[in-house]
Amino acid sequence: PDMDWKTLEETCRGCTACPLAATRKNVVFGVGNPAAEVLFVGEGPGANEDEQGEPFVGRAGQLLDKMLAAVGLSRQHNIYIANMVKCRPPQNRDPLPEEQDACLHWLKAQTALLRPRIIICLGRIAAKAIIDENFRITTQHGQWFTRGGVQMTAIYHPAALLRDESKKLDMWNDLKMAYDKMME
Ligand code: URA
Ligand code: SF4
Repeated sequence: PDMDWKTLEETCRGCTACPLAATRKNVVFGVGNPAAEVLFVGEGPGANEDEQGEPFVGRAGQLLDKMLAAVGLSRQHNIYIANMVKCRPPQNRDPLPEEQDACLHWLKAQTALLRPRIIICLGRIAAKAIIDENFRITTQHGQWFTRGGVQMTAIYHPAALLRDESKKLDMWNDLKMAYDKMME
């Protein structure tokens, strides 16, 4: 039988399966409503997340929370947020393929417990791992795919919006479409 949430989180917080364990301060397990229908998946923790042990709590995360709130979504109520990789890669580099491979089973276990109807990847790295290894975020963001009965899409990573304001309009449209899917 699957582990329950508490056991899964405790076990994950003790994970040393890849070299990122040596440099992390905190495992960033995930946060949100365990009854949510929507799972958001980011890439991996940054410095703020590593400090606090919670995903998307830095500047990009605050922007994400603001945009989510505007379409009626929040980690306190109706979504769950987790990352591909649970420990911070040094200097915020992309997680290496072997780190992603070592870590992905935690996200799979979270997905098995949550059984989301909708998965929303935040940015290229999550989209490539979850939707399609050839995923192109600039041309394919907001497109919907169905895998094993789960509807999924990828939208821009909020950090990309901080670097390039012109992506915000696309982000709003994608988030509104995600909300409409939730209401279907
Ligand atoms: N970026 C991510 O992909 N995840 C976080 O938790 C924070 C920043
Ligand atoms: Fe374990 Fe994932 Fe952390 Fe690596 S990144 S130590 S696999 S929890």
